[in-house]
Amino acid sequence: MEVRFQIQRFDPEADRRPYTKDYDVSLFDGATVLDGLIKIKDEMDGTLSFRRSCRSAICGSCAVRVNGNAMLACKTQIQPHLRNGVLKVAPLGNMRVIKDLVVDMTPFWQQIRGIQPWLATKPVVPERENIVSQDKVEPLLKPAQCIMCASCYSDCNVAEVDKAFAGPAALAKGFRFVADVRDGASGERIKRMSGARATWECSRCYTCTEVCPKHVAPLDCISLLRGKTIAAGVTDTPGARHVEAFVESVKHTGRLNEVSLPLKTRGFDPKALLSMAPIAIKMTIKGKMPLPIERPIPEVEDIRRIMEAAEEDK
Ligand code: FES
Repeated sequence: MEVRFQIQRFDPEADRRPYTKDYDVSLFDGATVLDGLIKIKDEMDGTLSFRRSCRSAICGSCAVRVNGNAMLACKTQIQPHLRNGVLKVAPLGNMRVIKDLVVDMTPFWQQIRGIQPWLATKPVVPERENIVSQDKVEPLLKPAQCIMCASCYSDCNVAEVDKAFAGPAALAKGFRFVADVRDGASGERIKRMSGARATWECSRCYTCTEVCPKHVAPLDCISLLRGKTIAAGVTDTPGARHVEAFVESVKHTGRLNEVSLPLKTRGFDPKALLSMAPIAIKMTIKGKMPLPIERPIPEVEDIRRIMEAAEEDK
């Protein structure tokens, strides 16, 4: 298999800006991106920098962007990603490049550390192990798969615009501890994460779930965390109020009222309401602005039944 690697290179001590360098490499069928990078470094250009360790999708150190999406170089076969014989490799996003494909993961680790990723058990030494039943451990299995490769953080759209956002990995891990029956600090964790820039800031774009190489499905964890936040009565935040107003509107009229939603979410905040004026004007011009008080649609009873069934199913 002949592959042209187009690799983003950057050495801050020598280069003014990143540039792309091509390497034509002969590889065996089934070779991974990491096989190619190692061959380039060993046989063609020893100055190329990248991280790797286990080569088994366990340590999480080899994550890079391939054709624009974050993935593990050691787990990704080249063949399905080749475009006319070309494979583009770049460093992870949302983090500063130290050199070539090596990024500074400090912001990612800070967010992970911020959720206090350890069990807060009671200060007594148990006389025997703390046995957890299978059904209680089930919700922890997916988030426990996280190898902290930062692929989700790299491609997170919210982290791109808000560097203070906790990010998918930290929130999935936060859920893992909130959902653990052995944890003695779930209430504090929920309150801490329900503040700005964590539980409610995710835009639900699903990118984290798409790129996660271990199928952790961070967005599912964030959704469950939101449910636990509301169930715990921590609802005095715009995010929680938004959910409650959304449900109330659909239950009441069978549709979403886009006028009352921001009012109930933000409360009477003149500055916030003023910032929404341009979109309100556009909606009015396009005839999409609903009346503040709407009559229920004819099928509202069906919708209520569906919602009740979904609530019972939880
Ligand atoms: Fe360890 Fe790829 S080298 S996950």
